Amino acid sequence: MTDLTWWQRGIIYQVYPRSFQDSDGDGIGDLQGIIQRLDYIKALGADIVWISPIFPSPMKDFGYDISDYRGIDPMFGTHRDFDALIAAAHTRGLKVLLDFVPSHTSDQHPWFVDSRSSRDHPKRDWYIWRDAQPDGSPPTNWISEFGPTTWAWDETTGQYYLHIFLASQPSLNWRNPQVQAEMLDTMRFWYQRGVDGFRVDAITHAAPDVARGDHPENPDWHDGMNPSQRLLKAHSKNQPFNFDIVRMMRRVTEEFPGRLLLGETDGTLAEVTRYYGADMDGFQLPFNFALLDVEWTVPVLVRTIENYVAALPRDGWPTWVIGNHDCIRIASRVGHDRARLAMTLLLCLRGTPTIYQGDELGIENADIPADKVQDPWEIQVPGKGLGRDPVRTPMPWDASNGAGFTTGTPWLPVAVPRDGPVSLQGPGSVVDYVLQLIALRQGTDALLRGAYRTVTATDDVLIFARDGADQTILIALNFSDHTQPAPSGDTLLSSHDGTGPLAPHEARILRAH
Ligand code: NOJ
Repeated sequence: MTDLTWWQRGIIYQVYPRSFQDSDGDGIGDLQGIIQRLDYIKALGADIVWISPIFPSPMKDFGYDISDYRGIDPMFGTHRDFDALIAAAHTRGLKVLLDFVPSHTSDQHPWFVDSRSSRDHPKRDWYIWRDAQPDGSPPTNWISEFGPTTWAWDETTGQYYLHIFLASQPSLNWRNPQVQAEMLDTMRFWYQRGVDGFRVDAITHAAPDVARGDHPENPDWHDGMNPSQRLLKAHSKNQPFNFDIVRMMRRVTEEFPGRLLLGETDGTLAEVTRYYGADMDGFQLPFNFALLDVEWTVPVLVRTIENYVAALPRDGWPTWVIGNHDCIRIASRVGHDRARLAMTLLLCLRGTPTIYQGDELGIENADIPADKVQDPWEIQVPGKGLGRDPVRTPMPWDASNGAGFTTGTPWLPVAVPRDGPVSLQGPGSVVDYVLQLIALRQGTDALLRGAYRTVTATDDVLIFARDGADQTILIALNFSDHTQPAPSGDTLLSSHDGTGPLAPHEARILRAH
């Protein structure tokens, strides 16, 4: 049997750097802070640290608006700190993924400053500029991800530019070969500095095809829904050229043996799996967001899991995620009582799991008072629950003022989980369970590579098997508030006491007889 690669065997841990650990008292996390906490990540049992953007940025979208792809924002540190982080991670056997944001820059990026300076500037075509319609309105009816139109009017040069996200995040024109060359070279720059791969941001939006015109109405849209979903993004998302861009990125990645591309791929199952590449020459791991917003019931989850497994290309390695910096905390979504069950599902399905920082502690969404709101999405589309501040709160390391996160004032209030800050979490806490779960997973071949098989799926209970070469592991999840019959086998781990029938919300892992 072939060995698994590091990214097939490993667990990804997402660090949101603003909120992980502050080392200089400015209330915002930084690279030295991450270094200080690498031992925590290592002890948890994760293997791969994905760090959300750390590059120079006006921070209008908290780092996803980059003004220099090769720099480090002083808020986070310096190149020297970055090199130290890579060295400290590698010494511990941890891999590091950076966020790569190819689809848009900041409007403060010198390229855009040049591009908007005149219609004749050589960099004009690095972005997507179009004339107004005869009545002055934007070239298409497209709606940005954060609410209003995707088109911003530029007074100086009398044209609109495209922005899929904020107006301060103009879309790059990847159809321009100079843009391709520069962006691909940026990847080389960081590979040469020792990064083990990239999480590629918003790739589905990297090749909008303006010539195809207006977007059709979404027949399922209703008031109260996210306004950006009012239209179907038929011409801006997942265009054929997106897959060519990914192939280019993969070719560069192949210049550096053993590196990984993890893509932020959302769309239909067919679109997501297409990102593996026709010849497995796309992303090694196209993110599978299927569990992020699916209804949390057994029938729906089983259908979702089975459809994904069936749709994978023959050599496609699966991947799973239940939380990130953009969506509701898993413990809030499924309820605190089911947080262990959700982590068990994430860590026992076949494929590479990604844990969002703090989900291992059962952190729930924080209440952010109106005067503390930071997220531009909430500011632009208020009151619809779209804001992402509630899931971006600083890590609660201890019970001190500033929670061990900072000696200053944290940029967002700290959310302390029900089991208390990390330093007070002992036996019986969510993180104590997750530690055991990860140790079991990483030490059990059937859990790493065994095939997935649904054994029982009722409204209340999901039991699935992972069939290894020499043993079958059963994962029994009781979604209900009542006890349920347990499968027979030797209990390896339980979120409860693991004997007799399954307790309400119990997750139990057994070796089948
Ligand atoms: C996806 C990122 O995860 C999100 O945080 C960001 O706002 C958008 N891409 C724009 O870069």
